[in-house]
Amino acid sequence: MKKQKARSAPLYLTIVVLIMVLISVVLFGSLQFSTTDRDIHAEHKEYVIPSKYENIHTKTVEDQSDEKRYLLHASWPTTENETINTSLDAFASDFISEFEEVSADIKQSREEYIRETGNDGVTFHASYNLHFDVSFANDDYVAFTFTKHRNTGNTGTDEISTVIYDRNTGEEIPLSSLFADPNYLERLSELTRRDLYERVESSADESEFDSEDQRKEWIKSFKTVMVDPGTEPTEDNFSSIVINSEGFLEINFDKYQVAPGTWGVVTVQIPLSEVRDLFSEEVRSLFDLNIEPEKGASAQPPINTETPSGKVDCSVEKCVALTFDDGPSAYTAELISILSEKRIKATFFVLGINARIQQQTILDLTHAGMEIGNHTWDHKDLTKLSIDEINDQVNRTADLIETITGSRPELVRPPYGAINEATAIAINAPVVLWNVDPEDWRYQNSEYITSHVVENAKPGAIILAHDIYETTVKAMPGIIDELQAAGYRFVTVSELVGEGRLVDGKILSYISKDF
Ligand code: NI
Repeated sequence: MKKQKARSAPLYLTIVVLIMVLISVVLFGSLQFSTTDRDIHAEHKEYVIPSKYENIHTKTVEDQSDEKRYLLHASWPTTENETINTSLDAFASDFISEFEEVSADIKQSREEYIRETGNDGVTFHASYNLHFDVSFANDDYVAFTFTKHRNTGNTGTDEISTVIYDRNTGEEIPLSSLFADPNYLERLSELTRRDLYERVESSADESEFDSEDQRKEWIKSFKTVMVDPGTEPTEDNFSSIVINSEGFLEINFDKYQVAPGTWGVVTVQIPLSEVRDLFSEEVRSLFDLNIEPEKGASAQPPINTETPSGKVDCSVEKCVALTFDDGPSAYTAELISILSEKRIKATFFVLGINARIQQQTILDLTHAGMEIGNHTWDHKDLTKLSIDEINDQVNRTADLIETITGSRPELVRPPYGAINEATAIAINAPVVLWNVDPEDWRYQNSEYITSHVVENAKPGAIILAHDIYETTVKAMPGIIDELQAAGYRFVTVSELVGEGRLVDGKILSYISKDF
């Protein structure tokens, strides 16, 4: 695979448009699409968030039963329209149910395997991940592109699809409605094959084959076995379609749909000039609009992170650090109000996929003096990823946060706390775990969370919580009041640990246990 060196390149902001207009609307929106490519080294596009995202927030469900053997991390959007929300909740709920069924089956098979062989059944596990991009948003329409990641063995699948909603009626709009030409699928099939054939040929490096005949044979079989079936002109094969403002129609294919798994999700870009005639008149008229990006949150200057509370000396005072993972979410704003009202600081280990949607919340956190940490892009178990994939998870998130706030997050918390020495070295940043864990994802009960944290807090404690659960947010006023009454000061993780002890590649839970 070609190695494009993308991470050192300046982050580049792009506004992309998905066309989905059926009826004649004056549509003037800017939107984005973050490209997924066959190569994880490919450049990731990040973008300015349009004001039209205001009412779009994320919801998340996480599960990590049986000592992290069965992992679920699902996030999906909510909007101002309850009909859309019901549809999205049902979509997420189907995925979650599937995870529950699959992991129950695997659990049973594993138990049988252990009984029969006496081995530990280490290969039996399941990891499910649902995340999304806002592909388009204006006052009238919103489009989401979802990726479903499923891993039940040594390798995972990624399934990608785009859903469009009418924001006024809440109705889902089929992708086929974008096209006027009844043969649009045949045309898309033809054009994507042309592009993919070229890629296959250029990926067949002469030096890797004994002869030209062998090379030709390999190319031929790649085309007939992978590309052709995956690009048959059916709606199923073309379930993720986006139009971008750079003048391309982007078509996303699932991992394994048109190429081997090493290509990942494959995106084909077709110049709009070649497909213009396929679209409905209303959609076509849009191409003539000179779409300017809206000024977004990231255009704001870097934030002053000075806080009113002043410095706390943790070598003298009893300090604890509250940490919140997996957000920002629909509940984060309420949490910020609670923390601000009590004039305390905390550390938020955010996910790139959620930060991208709720950029304003990231700014609000920074304005409120909170520390932002990096919880990776989309919450995969880093110990199961390659070094390149780990770097991608960490850097892509750090790049985004730096774009939004002007400063780069220093600390990394690995999803599920899954870490080993090699992974920590690959992360190449201070790795922060915790030493007080109310398991708020398991016990979604505010009273229980409060009593667990209060009873287990000690000077130097790093408390794990998640701002994706309403019960957790509701527990905070009580926790803060009780610990403050006991003489504790709340600080960020960086303040708690202290400058000299923040070492790249070092796992900080070991340090915090000594406190
Ligand atoms: Ni997490």
